[in-house]
Amino acid sequence: MSILKSTVNPQSDSFISNRDYYLERIKELHQRRQRAHLGGPEKARKRHTEHREQILPRDRIRVFIDPGSPFLELGELAGDNLAEGTEIGASLITGIGIVNGRQCMIIVNDATVKGGTYYPMTCKKHVRAQTFAIQHRLPCITMVQSGGAFLPEQEGIFPDEGMFGSIFVNQIEMSAQGIPQIAIVFGSSTAGGAYIPALCDEVVIIRGKGFMYLGGPQLVKAATGEVVGHEELGGAEMHSSVSGVTDHIAEDDAHGLSIARDIVRNLGNLPKQRWDVAKSAEPLYPIEEIYGIVNKDTKIPTHNRDILARLIDGSQFDEFKAKYGDTLMCGFAKIHGFEIGILANEGVMFSESAKKGAHFINLCCQRDIPLLFVADVPGFMVGEHAERGGIAKDGAKFITAMCSAKVPKYTLITGGSYGAGYLAMCGRPFKPNAMLAWPSGRSGIMGPEQVANTLATVREDILTREGKTWTEAEREEFKAPHRKRFEDSEGAYNFASKLWYDAVIDPSETRETLALLLDLAGRSPKIETNFGVFRQ
Ligand code: COA
Repeated sequence: MSILKSTVNPQSDSFISNRDYYLERIKELHQRRQRAHLGGPEKARKRHTEHREQILPRDRIRVFIDPGSPFLELGELAGDNLAEGTEIGASLITGIGIVNGRQCMIIVNDATVKGGTYYPMTCKKHVRAQTFAIQHRLPCITMVQSGGAFLPEQEGIFPDEGMFGSIFVNQIEMSAQGIPQIAIVFGSSTAGGAYIPALCDEVVIIRGKGFMYLGGPQLVKAATGEVVGHEELGGAEMHSSVSGVTDHIAEDDAHGLSIARDIVRNLGNLPKQRWDVAKSAEPLYPIEEIYGIVNKDTKIPTHNRDILARLIDGSQFDEFKAKYGDTLMCGFAKIHGFEIGILANEGVMFSESAKKGAHFINLCCQRDIPLLFVADVPGFMVGEHAERGGIAKDGAKFITAMCSAKVPKYTLITGGSYGAGYLAMCGRPFKPNAMLAWPSGRSGIMGPEQVANTLATVREDILTREGKTWTEAEREEFKAPHRKRFEDSEGAYNFASKLWYDAVIDPSETRETLALLLDLAGRSPKIETNFGVFRQ
């Protein structure tokens, strides 16, 4: 094993200035998380705890998972600042927790946000959590307390694939694959909110608080004239003794959670880890130094070699083809003892880097070694020399290898990751098992300045064709809104808000997060890779 040497000087002025800047970004990350953790307005939270005597959604998770075990949240910052108007978190909490030693996907309606109703982003988040659960064969525990669709947004919830109906599709698919699903009905669960538990294997309902019906008493009265109370229409006793829609009655929230823990205990053998996991070793350099290494000037790229030296066990990296295609570092390393094949950018992708990357991915697939893409890339090389050298076919080779690879794949966006570079480094469309970003992560089809320049050049060509000219000031005025639009779009929080990233993490959380993800992936069966055609 060779050790990555880093020559960063933590006493230098530039390091200190970069670090101070990054620490402000970390502060912002924690402020956003705090906002997400709060849930709905104080009035709704008080009604939940004091009036209804219920446990708040996040506290339900805390009570449910094994004491002291971590909860790996996905989509924590989804829904922030969207036109649809949901709170940050999108009225749903999703993540992986350990229950009686078993990793489970936990999906929780937040009834303090508009009665736990589903906004378009809530549907997307629920579907994403299920997709993750299917990929890792995780039992799904759904804590239901939802008024169903957030009606004013029906066009973003109802008609299309990926919306509410896909939640049912996924439930049925999971069931067919033998992935267990358990629901706890904590509160009023109407329409879609009632079908979700009805499609589960076992359902727990809380007496006097949990109700399930396709239409509530008001709707029934309006539709048929029948006057009926909540208990008779969809209460715990009726569903558990008459309709058979639910299987277990709990006396309160805590009891319901305890019954669900018992159900998880009876899910059979725990899945075994398929990889050998070595003893973990800390990197030779403090991980917190990453704050000072990422330059606050986004035009200055980060040396991922210095980053990797602070992320991997013992800073030990067995580099593959170190002297060939050196704008893409490839090599084998360990993270908390889990072996992983790392591809990290060190500049623009050239033909050589792309071919080397494809070769390396091929090796990892043969050896069943998961892949980590550390993305900070302006894109692929352009120009006559690159085109004559076949950059398009070599880029295609890399993308074919990355897309075909069925070993677990993780993407970590550390800096500006643009265009085909973003896609090739296992961007969201290529379905990485998890898409993570640091607060410094940025993505887009191009950087803001490049977009503004491209559009200005197109405009200039049109003006020339029409025999007109413009002044430098007019050119700048034209560019400014385009630049601004891309600046507003490319940031990690916008990507997390739209769920294009699963999580924005503090660099210092990277090792633990990846280790949790790798542990999950290693407990699901290996899938053979069948590569597509490589254009030669
Ligand atoms: N669509 C849009 N908004 C809804 C909603 C829905 N389906 N259900 C509730 N809301 C809103 C309410 O208007 C209220 O908004 P506000 O905070 O701006 O005043 C907020 O959610 C909380 O509703 P409230 O009734 O005060 O909360 P609750 O905890 O007492 O009851 C429900 C929650 C979900 C049980 C109850 O609101 C309800 O029965 N909603 C209708 C459910 C339904 O028929 N859904 C059919 C969907 S297909």
